[in-house]
Amino acid sequence: MSFEHFMYKGVRFATKAHSDETLNFAENEFEVFDDDVYNVTYPKSGTNWMIEILNLIKHDGDATICQTVPIYDRSPWLEVLTFRDQMRSLTHPRIISSHLPYQLFAKSFLSSKAKIVYTIRNPKDIIVSLFHFSKILCLFTANNDFQKFIDDFLEGKALYGLWFDHIKGWMQMKGDSRFFFITYEELQKDHHGSVIRLCKFLGKDLTDAQIDSVVKHSSFSSMKENKMSNWSQMSSDILDHTKGSFLRKGVSGDWKNHFTVAQSEYFDKVYREKMKDLNMSFYCEEE
Ligand code: A3P
Repeated sequence: MSFEHFMYKGVRFATKAHSDETLNFAENEFEVFDDDVYNVTYPKSGTNWMIEILNLIKHDGDATICQTVPIYDRSPWLEVLTFRDQMRSLTHPRIISSHLPYQLFAKSFLSSKAKIVYTIRNPKDIIVSLFHFSKILCLFTANNDFQKFIDDFLEGKALYGLWFDHIKGWMQMKGDSRFFFITYEELQKDHHGSVIRLCKFLGKDLTDAQIDSVVKHSSFSSMKENKMSNWSQMSSDILDHTKGSFLRKGVSGDWKNHFTVAQSEYFDKVYREKMKDLNMSFYCEEE
């Protein structure tokens, strides 16, 4: 996985998307409001899916916003170069995305009542999703070497650093009433029930019809058809639309079509080693 990068406090960031200044702003200067909701993920874990769900819940199932404002402007990423411009158009409660690891997240969150939704995905599927994404996102230098991708991912050379550190960092929030975590695989298996649980966490009392509308408009097929959600409006300097689509497959377990048995076994070995001190298992491990 190759991209022009720089290190900020030990984590890899992309020169085309971040700077020391934006990361310092996110971490130390940005003011969190008590009614904010943060959509936090490691990249390719279902960030945009959660943006859609959270925005639909915020608007009681009404899809107007999702059909009129591009997804990346509805819930922009806290740490990126464009954030401060995008932030001005956000309405309250703000729904803000971030891929930042726990230790680099906005410090003002700690003393706030804001909420965090953290989505976790099977890391093998993340690698596959990222592998394909790297062919269309111009920030990356295209590389077809899948083994190198796995190695870079396991060595923390990916954008936003080591997946294991991201998970272990954010899991320090487990048990905090402001923190809700869910897996991409749970969302897939029980989309409707996941939306109900999210509403409960967010203190939103939606009718059955409104919940059905959230589920309908955040389905993979609805998002793929919605030009405000499928990234088709993104400038071609940033995303090469000729080489693939952002909403690629939207399934769990695609890693089985990409990993060899040896690659999978090696990955599992590293996974067990790195996660052994966490004392937690995730739904995605059962897949
Ligand atoms: P694939 O590349 O495996 O298809 P992120 O938003 O964090 O960048 O994650 C992108 C991944 O989430 C992509 O995975 C994308 O297809 C998937 N995704 C986006 N919306 C989805 C939806 N409504 N249902 C299922 N998967 C979705």
